[in-house]
Amino acid sequence: RFPSERLNLSVSSSLAPQLWKLLTTASQEAEKRGWHLYLVGGAVRDLLLANTAGNLMIKDIDLVVDGFHKSADVGAGVELAKALQQLYPTARLEIHGAFQTAALLWHKDPQLDSLWVDIATARTEFYPYPAANPEVEASSIRQDLYRRDFTINALALRLTSPRAGELLDFFGGLLDLQAKQIRVLHANSFIEDPTRIYRGVRFAVRFSFEIESQTQEFIRYAINSGVYDRTAQENSKTPALQTRLKTELKHILEAPYWKSALQLLDNLGALQCIHPTLKLDALLLRQLRLLERCLRRFDPQQSLIHWEMRLETIIAHLEPQYRVKVAKNLQLQEDGIKRLQNLAKAEAEVLESLPACQRPSQVVQFLRQYDLPMLVLIALQTQRTIRRQIWYYLTILSHINPILNGNDLKKLGYKPGVQYRQMLDDLLAATLDGNINNKAEAEEFLASSYPR
Ligand code: CTP
Repeated sequence: RFPSERLNLSVSSSLAPQLWKLLTTASQEAEKRGWHLYLVGGAVRDLLLANTAGNLMIKDIDLVVDGFHKSADVGAGVELAKALQQLYPTARLEIHGAFQTAALLWHKDPQLDSLWVDIATARTEFYPYPAANPEVEASSIRQDLYRRDFTINALALRLTSPRAGELLDFFGGLLDLQAKQIRVLHANSFIEDPTRIYRGVRFAVRFSFEIESQTQEFIRYAINSGVYDRTAQENSKTPALQTRLKTELKHILEAPYWKSALQLLDNLGALQCIHPTLKLDALLLRQLRLLERCLRRFDPQQSLIHWEMRLETIIAHLEPQYRVKVAKNLQLQEDGIKRLQNLAKAEAEVLESLPACQRPSQVVQFLRQYDLPMLVLIALQTQRTIRRQIWYYLTILSHINPILNGNDLKKLGYKPGVQYRQMLDDLLAATLDGNINNKAEAEEFLASSYPR
């Protein structure tokens, strides 16, 4: 289905022309310097999956520079990025680490939109594989690909001549794409990088692929051996484990397929990576369903960050004593951590005080101390009667305003001052409780309580 000799042709016709032009320019610049240039990772996978003539605009491009007969200098990727930036002055250049990688970024460019191109030099220093391959050419690109997560992400497309357009498939990625399999390259993959468990699930659900059975075994083995207990090494070159886990969780929880992904993570026992006691049981599923309804209804403008609310709901499902630690580990925002810290106390307060609120004004007076996300979390945790009252507050009561405002009070001859607050509060309470229904009644109410 994917004849590699024809890849060049299909790439040039699949990709958006401006993107193809950029890749051609980049490969010419690499050729001038005697290097090979490869398109690697997700872009190759997505190109092969797209498999149609079209106008594919990939937003995230990974390029790897390699030497021709020997490894390229470590600074090659950076040099190439600098050369390209001269030709594309609208791109921003970022250099990361000690000459390891460079990125060219376009922001809302009329041609290239928001494109991110990472350029790295083929790396051979990580996870060395048994040096059995006598072929010198491509040995560093092979090693670069070998340290990647799944066979479908370890494909490279050579962009430079000779043999431009050739697909480098050392690990059977093409077959796995055809057979819809997520397969790691070696047994230690998840031990080396446990976030790959979440990545594997994400790819499986996103493409409707299956996690190949031995890869599933490796996942279970890694989880049982407690990979996630390993404390994150803050000084390591790669971001700490928990930061990367959070990034993967974000990807999953903001995708349309987040529910199936959570289900698969649970089936694999991988929710334990968040906390050993975490299970996607019927209660949590119900809470997540309720949350969605709630977000649709109370936050149609998406002023809250919905994936974070999903994550907070998941963490809130843990026993209260575990919540803050997990929230901090996953580097939630300060207000999210605080919310989870205060949730148990707030829930107890609501359970005790809300049923005692007889009048709507008392409900408002009591519930307005909590913000929307806190009320949502409380509602998800509590029984139906309490939840109904919170819903009623959020849908109706919280939108009711006093019949008169500050300007009206001024026109009525009240001197502006601190008492305005109290007067407006009283007016609101009387409105909520149905004691006043129009302006005339409001003015009468004021005259009796606040003589001028
Ligand atoms: N990669 C890896 N292990 C990780 C993260 C990334 O091996 N933990 C490699 C994979 O080869 C991947 C590439 O780095 O293809 C780029 O990573 P990323 O941009 O995160 O993934 P993509 O495959 O591009 O996926 P997406 O389309 O979701 O961005």
